[in-house]
Amino acid sequence: MPVGCAKQKQEMDLLRSVFKAGTACDEPLEPDAKRLKREEGSGEGGKHRSATGGGVTSTSGGGGGGDGDGAGDGGAIADGTPVLPKKEEDLGHYVTREIHLRKQEDDGELVYKTIKNDGNEQHMIWLVTLKNIFSKQLPNMPKEYIVRLVFNPNHHSMICLKNNLVIAGVTYRPFWPQKMGEIAFCAVSANEQVKGYGTRLMNHLKTYVCEQENMTHLITFADNNAVGYFAKQGFTKDVMMDREKWVGYIKEYDGGTIMECHLSAQVSYTDFPVMIRTQRQAVAEKIKQLSSAHLVYPGLSRFLNKPHGSGGVHAPDTYIPASEIMTTVDGLKQAGWVQPGLPKFRLVHPGCGDGTPTRDNLHRFMRSLVALVNGHPDAWPFVDAINPTEVPDYYDVIKDPLYLELIKERVDCGEYYLTLEMFAADFRLLFNNCRLYNSPETVFFKCATRLENFFDGKVQAGISWKSIRGERTERG
Ligand code: ACO
Repeated sequence: MPVGCAKQKQEMDLLRSVFKAGTACDEPLEPDAKRLKREEGSGEGGKHRSATGGGVTSTSGGGGGGDGDGAGDGGAIADGTPVLPKKEEDLGHYVTREIHLRKQEDDGELVYKTIKNDGNEQHMIWLVTLKNIFSKQLPNMPKEYIVRLVFNPNHHSMICLKNNLVIAGVTYRPFWPQKMGEIAFCAVSANEQVKGYGTRLMNHLKTYVCEQENMTHLITFADNNAVGYFAKQGFTKDVMMDREKWVGYIKEYDGGTIMECHLSAQVSYTDFPVMIRTQRQAVAEKIKQLSSAHLVYPGLSRFLNKPHGSGGVHAPDTYIPASEIMTTVDGLKQAGWVQPGLPKFRLVHPGCGDGTPTRDNLHRFMRSLVALVNGHPDAWPFVDAINPTEVPDYYDVIKDPLYLELIKERVDCGEYYLTLEMFAADFRLLFNNCRLYNSPETVFFKCATRLENFFDGKVQAGISWKSIRGERTERG
């Protein structure tokens, strides 16, 4: 026996004199003021105990506990195909953690066992350690009460052994006729918390009670500060089980919340990492078949070594002419992009040719709109780039700066705005930048809102959608 277990042995001998191993105990002590205990149950447990072994059942190590055969190496699915992405962190926090713990189980470092007070000396030692963990982690719970339940042969405990030392456990009472188990205590020792052991323990417990004890539900009065943990393990505050199955059977506690977890025999709870990995792999493969989004092309070099204009804006001579986009930008053609056809509206603004929204006519419209906005009495704050010496923090706040003169240059170059939407989006950015930097009571903020209304009104008045409904346009 390890040295550290000597004290436990003493405690165990003491406990032996209190409990007669393998026989039903007296009813538990009357509850203290903190936790109120009701009737302990129907007493059916003894009848079924032998059916569930009553001894040790290991649910880990050697691929047990429902873990798929091929999954033990953490890198293969059942048919042996490697599925781990190159970087494990791609799998997400939960799966990565589970894979790590799974590996410890496969290496025999972590073992989960279901035990109870059945007279076996080793089980008694483990139960003593477990009750010590419960006593430390649940300080509001009377120690005598913990002892009484942990060593009550009607209660089972699933323990987590790390290098043969108990580091966590759950004590539960099976109610065979109702196919449910009541979790009395659940804890992980202080230095092992928030490392995923609590989750893995619960997953092993679910697998065990589902497969070995034919249960359909777990129920518990969760401490209010552990409700978050139980919620993450699939427990809900809505108890869907028929009331007559649990009311009067399970222990009720002050400062606790009743929570239920519905179990499904079709889910292998300890196999989540493999399941999620396999599903991700399948989805990624399907996406690869349907799209070329995973192909990465070299970036555009035309912006390299070009000096930025004010506020980091590139000069118009870096724009790629629309006619060259397909040949200049690698990947556009492969992604199935095609030049968009003409928009479905007509231009009804004066001076826009025959009103067909061709590129030339759209640019006539845009030029006219820029001139109208420029001539508006509220346009003065927007004409030129903000001078950083006058407003030192402006470019710390506004990361995508814009001004009317630049919009005009973009229109004049004839290649920048391929659609009216792109043009309108720049105006939206212009006004939003102003409202982001300035507070609502400022003159700048008010100018932005008035000028935006003016701009929107002119855009709306300059286009007509009637022609697409087969009606006469306003221009005839
Ligand atoms: N409240 C809210 N969330 C929690 C809590 C908590 N008390 N403890 C853990 N979590 C979260 C974790 O952040 C983690 O979230 P993530 O999956 O998004 O990363 C998730 O729950 C699982 O964490 P694990 O690392 O698997 O949990 P851990 O190993 O720490 O075990 C446990 C959780 C059992 C609650 C442990 O912290 C403990 O022993 N606490 C003290 C005793 C206790 O409160 N026990 C429950 C009493 S109720 C009862 O026994 C019926």
